[in-house]
Amino acid sequence: MPDDYMPSWLSYTLSATGLASAAGAVMLYLYQSDLLYLPSHPEGSRTEVPKPSQYGMPYVEETLTTKDGVKIKSYIITLKDEQAAKNAPTIIYHHANAGNMGHRLPIAQVFYEKFNANVVMLSYRGYGLSEGSPSDKGLRIDSQTMLDYVRAHPILGKTKIIAYGQSLGGAVAIDVVARNPDAFAGLMIENTFLSVPKMIPHVVPMLKNLTWLCHLNWPSENNIRQIVKTPILFLSGAKDELVPPSHMKGLYNASQTRATKVWKEFANGTHNDTCIQPGYFSAIRDFLADIRDDQLEPIQQQAAPSKTDKVKLQSEGEEKFQLVSGVADAEGMTHSFRFEEEED
Ligand SMILES: *[C@@H]1O[C@H](CO)[C@@H](O)[C@H](O)[C@H]1NC(C)=O
Ligand SMILES: *[C@@H]1O[C@H](CO)[C@@H](O)[C@H](O)[C@H]1NC(C)=O
Ligand SMILES: *[C@@H]1O[C@H](CO)[C@@H](O)[C@H](O)[C@H]1NC(C)=O
Ligand SMILES: *[C@@H]1O[C@H](CO)[C@@H](O)[C@H](O)[C@H]1NC(C)=O
Repeated sequence: MPDDYMPSWLSYTLSATGLASAAGAVMLYLYQSDLLYLPSHPEGSRTEVPKPSQYGMPYVEETLTTKDGVKIKSYIITLKDEQAAKNAPTIIYHHANAGNMGHRLPIAQVFYEKFNANVVMLSYRGYGLSEGSPSDKGLRIDSQTMLDYVRAHPILGKTKIIAYGQSLGGAVAIDVVARNPDAFAGLMIENTFLSVPKMIPHVVPMLKNLTWLCHLNWPSENNIRQIVKTPILFLSGAKDELVPPSHMKGLYNASQTRATKVWKEFANGTHNDTCIQPGYFSAIRDFLADIRDDQLEPIQQQAAPSKTDKVKLQSEGEEKFQLVSGVADAEGMTHSFRFEEEED
């Protein structure tokens, strides 16, 4: 009798398991966009979008209509002096998964106030007050729409355009730079992944064998190989618990760019707090200094600095910019950043 019993128990278990994973597979296939994209998190993200004026920045809010008819919101934050704005770089901010563009204003404020950069931000479709719902294809259209707007802008169209992206935003930034090789003077990416399928075994080990069902893609590992003439800054938190730091290393390795390739690792940086690690903003400042036509004050004071002088100045700059206060909370939202240039 046990001989009889065992196999039927076993086959029951097997079919139950088979059923569970088939259901899991269907769920994964149908709902993966909802699993990946988190526009309603944290609460209020679809109704409350902080404004640049709350951070003392003048701005224009633009509603852009994408080629597939979706209305998305953007902030255009241009330096007050028109000539300065034309000479300064323009950073297009591709935000991370949760929240909306308004949650990243404290970081935009550092770019604007401390680095004299124009900043352009967008809430992807389905995020913040933008219409629609997120998808790979949709986000790619949104980033292209934003870039096309900047290139047609009477002031910003004349500037050097830099793509910046954190986490999922890094994938969006890599993608838009790869598709528009002549449009960008630089790319800055933080804690982003090789591809969504390569993230699955790490995030949900149970679904390891179902990776092939993943129609979400963001193939950054392939896309970054298409970028061959743009300088790239890699900002990597060595303690990232969400995206394994090996993904950033893989992207750095995969990059074939003939221009500068800068690797910056932050020993204590986790997924959401890498931007408050010492040296984060100095790395961005130095990267921009190599690209921009205008010069930031301390560098300008040097009469025709040689390459070595410049490097020295920049590493001194690393001590100069310090975070005075600021938090990145569990959702990766930033609050009350204050950066000060230290007195000599
Ligand atoms: C995935 O498949 C391999 C062999 O193909 C198997 O050994 C492993 O147990 C499977 N993992 C899961 C989580 O189902
Ligand atoms: C680095 O890139 C090369 C070619 O792009 C590839 O063959 C190699 O496997 C990569 N190594 C790592 C550690 O990712
Ligand atoms: C990392 O954190 C440890 C413990 O708080 C601290 O001693 C160390 O200086 C930090 N390292 C960096 C590079 O920030
Ligand atoms: C970081 O933010 C993501 C959402 O963007 C969240 O899922 C994750 O739990 C956060 N990590 C930590 C350590 O708080």
